[in-house]
Amino acid sequence: MINKNILKEVIVANEEFILRQVKRIVHRKGIHVPESLNKVVVLYGVRRSGKTFILFDLFKKFRDRSLYIDFEDERLTGFQAKDFERLKESMLELKPQLIGKELVFLLDEVQNVEGWEKFCRRAVERENIKVFVSGSSSKMMPLEIHTELRGRSWSIEILPFSFEEHLHLRGLNAADESILYGPKKALVRRHFLEYLRWGGFPEVSVLESELEKTKLLKEYMSAMFFRDMVERYGITNIPLLESLTDKLFSSFSLKFSVTAFYKQYKDKFPFSKDMLFRYCKYFLQSMLVFEVRKFAESAYVRMRNPAKLYLVDTGLCRRVTSADSGRLLENAVYLELRRRGYEIFYFEGKRECDFIARDGDERLFAVQASFDLNEGNREREIGGLVEACKCIGAGKGTIITYDEEEEQTMDGVDVKIVPVWKWMVKH
Ligand SMILES: Nc1ncnc2c1ncn2[C@@H]1O[C@H](COP(=O)(O)OP(=O)(O)O)[C@@H](O)[C@H]1O
Ligand SMILES: [Mg+2]
Repeated sequence: MINKNILKEVIVANEEFILRQVKRIVHRKGIHVPESLNKVVVLYGVRRSGKTFILFDLFKKFRDRSLYIDFEDERLTGFQAKDFERLKESMLELKPQLIGKELVFLLDEVQNVEGWEKFCRRAVERENIKVFVSGSSSKMMPLEIHTELRGRSWSIEILPFSFEEHLHLRGLNAADESILYGPKKALVRRHFLEYLRWGGFPEVSVLESELEKTKLLKEYMSAMFFRDMVERYGITNIPLLESLTDKLFSSFSLKFSVTAFYKQYKDKFPFSKDMLFRYCKYFLQSMLVFEVRKFAESAYVRMRNPAKLYLVDTGLCRRVTSADSGRLLENAVYLELRRRGYEIFYFEGKRECDFIARDGDERLFAVQASFDLNEGNREREIGGLVEACKCIGAGKGTIITYDEEEEQTMDGVDVKIVPVWKWMVKH
């Protein structure tokens, strides 16, 4: 049991910290929660993507009635589910004017408290408390969420900054459409190339120096490698993990075949296929890597074909040469589609199309990503998109390029070619 004085100490210190020390918070899009919603809002996603800062932003929004607690705070070691009640009491003793009012609880890395779901559920259902929780652990992913909270939670995936948020940080507001025309356009384009190369982890976005960006991304990788993989899953076969990491992080926007990997490495060091499958699963659970399945009616066909891989951030891509801008662009487009909440597949018929996306209303549309269109690829890219559009019965499709803009009709399908920096901020 935790002493109430400690709880009060932590509550007050956090409040001071957030209100005085945390100055600049870029507002995150997509954190919409219906006002009247009686659910526990769960923010989940990879470490360093900005979950804590979203809680800080909410703290400022609900300022006089909110409480922020971080369960990685060592002062709270030993905090148990039954201490939540004391936490609430401590808050009300500190601020008696709030008795009977709606409170807002912001609970960071809450998965560290076993049984947190029960309190949170009761809080939103019966105690007039708004609850936002966050965590970097796979335990917070929608499918892993405790049955106690099924149907009582509202999950929001937090990815690193979108291009729009990155621009915002750089002082350019995407709501102001004039940045897409005239003199600011060149600036937006330049920022996009930077964003493509270094990704959108907020701390990396802030940095100006390439040397510092590189250093920070390396630190992220090693923290993710050791804390999120080795320690969390008790991984013992380090050579396998290293080779797999290298392979996965350099296979962005490509198909990945576990069997091919197995064949390539099985004589180099000892490991079983079983272990390999397990490690691949850990990468997916770590939310560092996403897989995209082939578009097909039958689940069997979907699962039998190899998945395509995308990374949670383009700054983490490995072995990138100047020839890989197309793959980087494709990965960035994938992340943006994911941010917009679509369910995503790849299309493979006679030709290929990078994405078929399905929105909340079950509408399908096709998107092709290609750095540029030239004599060598134009017909293939457009042909693939048109074939995909026909397959899903869509009358129009989009090709996203770095800098081309054009509209044309082919075989009765309207093909819209748009520059990526425009597509990413206009929707
Ligand atoms: N919205 C934001 N605006 C400005 N900086 C941010 C924002 N989100 C994150 N950051 C920066 O990135 C760092 C990591 O974000 P954080 O919220 O701690 O990530 P997480 O909780 O997901 O691990 C923060 O310490 C801050 O420097
Ligand atoms: Mg955090």
